[in-house]
Amino acid sequence: MAKVTFLGHSAWLIQNDQYSIIIDPFLEGNPTAEVKPDELNVDYIIVTHAHGDHLGDAIPMAKKNNATIISNFEIANYCTDKGANAHPMHIGGAHEFPFGKVKLTPAWHGSSFPDGSYGGTPAGCLVMIDGRTIYHTGDTGIFMDMQLIGELNPVDFYMVNIGDNFTMGIDDAVKSVELIKPRMTFPMHFKTMDVIDVDPSEFVSKVNQKGYEAKVIDIGASHTF
Ligand code: NI
Ligand code: MN
Repeated sequence: MAKVTFLGHSAWLIQNDQYSIIIDPFLEGNPTAEVKPDELNVDYIIVTHAHGDHLGDAIPMAKKNNATIISNFEIANYCTDKGANAHPMHIGGAHEFPFGKVKLTPAWHGSSFPDGSYGGTPAGCLVMIDGRTIYHTGDTGIFMDMQLIGELNPVDFYMVNIGDNFTMGIDDAVKSVELIKPRMTFPMHFKTMDVIDVDPSEFVSKVNQKGYEAKVIDIGASHTF
């Protein structure tokens, strides 16, 4: 049995009987997060881009758990320099890990570190685990190639940013569902700060109107598969 748990903002925990993988572990600095990084044991940490609300606690968590950070080449090198284990990848590339496969996808966004250093090109990620394909957008605006991503990698669970201002807002995110055609969509990257305070239930009903399934997963709740 496997499950995905929403930890707030863009942080998701993917777990099966053997492995725990966290994506974008922004917990300590996130007032809406309910778990502290010290409460989690993880084997792999995927970081979509270097912004503080995505890199989050990746480096201390990697060191504490002896976990491996999976990210683009620039972020992986930065984390290695800070004493963490990291596996560098880049956009379009896939790699088979013990838990399954990870492929980095494009994202239209920025990727500087909180200290101002260069974080390479921002990404989204596909995670193939236990027969399912998960697509996490990272932070991005909508782009037509999402159609190709969905065509090449049929998506079961689509985690999409809906908060607007820094990323797609609700209507563009609904359109992205129509491009990707996932089995199920979960909204993220909303309400953490005033400027992204949008209503996820509006997103869900608009996705449903287009004939697709979507569900708001509350912070701390899971979807089992
Ligand atoms: Ni960002
Ligand atoms: Mn963000």
